[in-house]
Amino acid sequence: MIWNCDDPAAPDLSACGADYPQTVVSLARIDAFEGDLFDEEAAQVAHSVPSRRREFAAARTLARRAMGELGFAHRPIPRRPDRAPVWPPGLVGSLSHCRHWAAAAVSAGVASIGIDIECRGRVEPKLFGLVFTAAERGRIADEAAASALFSAKEAVFKAVHPLTGKRPEFHEVEIALDMAANRFAARYSGPDGANAVIDRLHGRVAVTADHVLTIAASAFLTNGCVKASGQP
Ligand SMILES: CC(C)(COP(=O)(O)OP(=O)(O)OC[C@H]1O[C@@H](n2cnc3c(N)ncnc32)[C@H](O)[C@@H]1OP(=O)(O)O)[C@@H](O)C(=O)NCCC(=O)NCCS
Repeated sequence: MIWNCDDPAAPDLSACGADYPQTVVSLARIDAFEGDLFDEEAAQVAHSVPSRRREFAAARTLARRAMGELGFAHRPIPRRPDRAPVWPPGLVGSLSHCRHWAAAAVSAGVASIGIDIECRGRVEPKLFGLVFTAAERGRIADEAAASALFSAKEAVFKAVHPLTGKRPEFHEVEIALDMAANRFAARYSGPDGANAVIDRLHGRVAVTADHVLTIAASAFLTNGCVKASGQP
């Protein structure tokens, strides 16, 4: 995995070099550059407020730079009616933004990928019952862990929904977080077999005083077996 961010204030996933083959993950401050949009993308945010157009363009500009690093031509990344981004053939990817940061993950080497950056503290304790399972609630050591858990679920959703079209419930997805190792695993416990792909996701997490960044990616499958080269 190529990690593109040299801002010392950013959540840092530079140590994940061996994870996720042929994958570029980029993070940048939204106000650090002017993002460019293709006409079809610009049309999708033509009536949005300027801050929304900036975040939309910033994440797409990072993603296009990543396409170039992977040897692909720069292409539009329009939005589907369900809001999922559409990637050019041969690539999968995911976008995220919060108040200050835009993030993009683009890959030619995994089956699906999701990325999420969050401002810490967004999930207040009164919401824990809605978004976390009982087991997860029992393991939440502090606010950083709660933010990381929530972000991991968002990254899992972004990796899985474009692949399956399914919307798993928060309580059907359980995250096992290892903050010391900056990793997480996901487990699906609901009734829809299509969501079993969630069990194959490998997650990464990085936390700063203000933000949390998570990535969830699934290796390619060959004859029902996960390719060794595709495993983080
Ligand atoms: C879609 C969702 C994940 C976006 O997350 P967010 O923290 O609000 O916002 P972020 O900035 O991190 O991400 C926004 C980006 O997600 C992407 N996105 C939106 N819908 C998506 C979908 N259905 N599938 C994949 N990616 C999607 C888009 O690229 C979007 O950016 P863009 O509109 O500029 O293209 C969130 O709104 C949501 O629906 N969460 C619920 C997830 C859920 O149900 N989880 C259950 C357990 S897995």
